[in-house]
Amino acid sequence: MSYDVKMYRAILEERLNSKRFNHSLNVAESAKELSERWGYENTEKAYVTGLLHDICKNDSEQSQLEMVRKSSRAVNSIDLITPPLYHAIAGAWYVENKLGIRDDEILDAIRYHTEGRANMTLLDKIIFTADIISADRDFSDVSHYRELAKNDLEQTVLEYLAFSIEDVLGKKICLSTHSINAYNSQIMHTKKG
Ligand SMILES: [Fe+2]
Ligand SMILES: [Fe+2]
Repeated sequence: MSYDVKMYRAILEERLNSKRFNHSLNVAESAKELSERWGYENTEKAYVTGLLHDICKNDSEQSQLEMVRKSSRAVNSIDLITPPLYHAIAGAWYVENKLGIRDDEILDAIRYHTEGRANMTLLDKIIFTADIISADRDFSDVSHYRELAKNDLEQTVLEYLAFSIEDVLGKKICLSTHSINAYNSQIMHTKKG
């Protein structure tokens, strides 16, 4: 399938504020680089997935929730009461139903880019990681994650899952069951390797 990247960029520019639009372009670039580094052959698909991953991020919470309710992608009771998770689920719904991209590999990578899931695909891991290390990110450990992502993609995903789970525990908010499953799955996966 070929992708109308120019059109997607125009739609994103309209839907997102300039900071989020810039982030989306950077995540797309990082996703392309990671796919070259880690042998994901369809680099254009990785680029497009990265580009679109936050397409609903600036929508109102209400509008995101409406799309979350329509989603068929494993939305559970924890997801429904955790607004920061909505945009990923809504994004997958929007890309499928408004942009007409009916590719589950792309749609799932968007849906799970914040939570992760058990048995993440290579594209899931690329988008999850690209979102952490993109050029606009400036959190304190970002250079550590950028280095790690060049050397060990599995460990990058595992470490960041552990970091975000600890963060959630510290805030005493609900912990995504998809994230717990992702964490356990990465532990088993990295031990095997
Ligand atoms: Fe996001
Ligand atoms: Fe993002």
